[in-house]
Amino acid sequence: MLHFLDDPAFAGQDAWQYWEDGVLLVEDGHIADAGAWAALCGAIAADTTVIDHRGKLIVPGFIDTHVHYPQTDIIASPSPGLLHWLDTYTFPEEQRFADPEYAATVAGFFTDELLRNGTTSALVWSTVHAASAEALFAESERRQMRLATGKVLMDRNCPPYLRDTAESGARDSADLMSRWHGKGRLSYAITPRFAPTSTEVQLASCGELARACPDALIQTHVAENLDEIRWVAELFPDARSYLDVYDRYGLLRPGAVYGHAIHLDDDDRRRLADSGAAVAHCPTSNLFLGSGLYDFARSDAQRVPLTLATDVGGGTSFSMLRTMSAAHKVARMGGFHLDALRMFYLATRAGAKALGWADRVGSFQAGNEADFIVLDPAATPLLARRSERAQTLEEQLFAFAMLGDDRAIAHVYLMGEPVGA
Ligand code: GUN
Ligand code: ZN
Repeated sequence: MLHFLDDPAFAGQDAWQYWEDGVLLVEDGHIADAGAWAALCGAIAADTTVIDHRGKLIVPGFIDTHVHYPQTDIIASPSPGLLHWLDTYTFPEEQRFADPEYAATVAGFFTDELLRNGTTSALVWSTVHAASAEALFAESERRQMRLATGKVLMDRNCPPYLRDTAESGARDSADLMSRWHGKGRLSYAITPRFAPTSTEVQLASCGELARACPDALIQTHVAENLDEIRWVAELFPDARSYLDVYDRYGLLRPGAVYGHAIHLDDDDRRRLADSGAAVAHCPTSNLFLGSGLYDFARSDAQRVPLTLATDVGGGTSFSMLRTMSAAHKVARMGGFHLDALRMFYLATRAGAKALGWADRVGSFQAGNEADFIVLDPAATPLLARRSERAQTLEEQLFAFAMLGDDRAIAHVYLMGEPVGA
C-alpha cells in the first residue's frame, strides 16, 4: 500500500509511506487509519469486513486535472496541430452538446471510462452549453465521484454556434455555480476556454466570478502552441506574456489550473508559483498535437505546482498510467529524469492539492474520503514478467507506469464501496 504526504522531489523519504503488508481501515466511506497490518490488525473490530488484496498494490485513486468530456468521441483524430484540430474536429463535435440527451449519454460513458482507468476524481471541461455541465454534474453525482466542471466561456473567435456573450456566460456560470458548487462531492470551475476566444470584457467577468466565489476552481489553457501564442500577442498587445493576460484579470490563484503551460518564461513560472496556481501537464496531448516538451527542470527550479492530466481528446488515452509513461519520455527529451514515485505523486496527491482537495482525497490521511484503486502487477503477461524481476518499489512503480494501462486497474473504490460491484 502506497500513498504520498508531499512531493518526493522536494521532501525526500518523508514524502511517502509504503507498507508491503498494509491495511486501510474504512469507516462510513472515510479512511479511519492506514498502516502496517501487524500494527493495526489488533484494532480491527470483530464484525469488520476484511477484503484481501494481497499481491496487489493499493494507491489513492488517480486525479486527472485537465480532461474534456465532450471530446471523448473525437479522440485520435488526425491533425497537423492544435488550431486545425480545434476547427476541424473539436468545435463541430462540441456543438452537439446543446442537446442535453446527447450530453448525458457521453457524460455517462466518460465517467465510466474515468473509473475504469482508476481515475476517481477530475477537473473536467464541458462545452459552452450550460446543459453540458449540468449533464456531467448529474452523472458524477449518480456515481458519487468527487469532480469539478464548468461551462466553457467563449464570446469571440469561434464558430457562432458555440459563442456566448460576456453577459450570458457570466449569468450561466453563476447559475450553475449556485446550484452545483459544494453540492455533495461536486465543485464548480470557472472555465474561459483560452485567451483568444474571450473578449477583455469576458475575461474581466471571469475575474468577477472568481472574486465572488473564492473557493471556486478556475481552469483554462495557456502557452500550449507557438501559433496560439503569436495570436494572443496580437490580440493582447499590452500584456507582458500569455500568462499575464490571465493575471491581469485576477485568474491566478490557488485552485486555478493552467493546462499545458509549455512555452513560459522564468517570470511566468515565478508568477505561477507565487500565485499558488498549478500547471496541468498533458504529455500525450503535447506529443500528439506536436505542441512542445514541458520543461521539468525549469518548472521544478521555480517550484511550479505541477499536476498530471490526460487532456482527452487532444490527449490520446484516459489512462493516467499511460500518461505517466508519456510524461517520463517528455522529461527524458529534456535531459530530466522523472522517477516513478514522483509520477504517482503527480497523479494523486499533487492533483488533490491543486484542486484544494488535499483533506478529502489523494492520500490515505485519516478522515479523507476512501477513494482508492488496486493495481495488479500481473495484469498482462509482460507486466507479470517484469514485476517478477522488480527489486525495489521504484522498479515496480516504473513497470506499472511504462507497461500499464486500464488492464492494470483491478479494482476501484469510491467512498469505500467497490465500483461496478
Ligand atoms: N486550447 C483551446 N481549446 C483547447 C482544447 O480543447 N484542447 C487543447 N488541447 N487546447 C485547447
Ligand atoms: Zn485542454
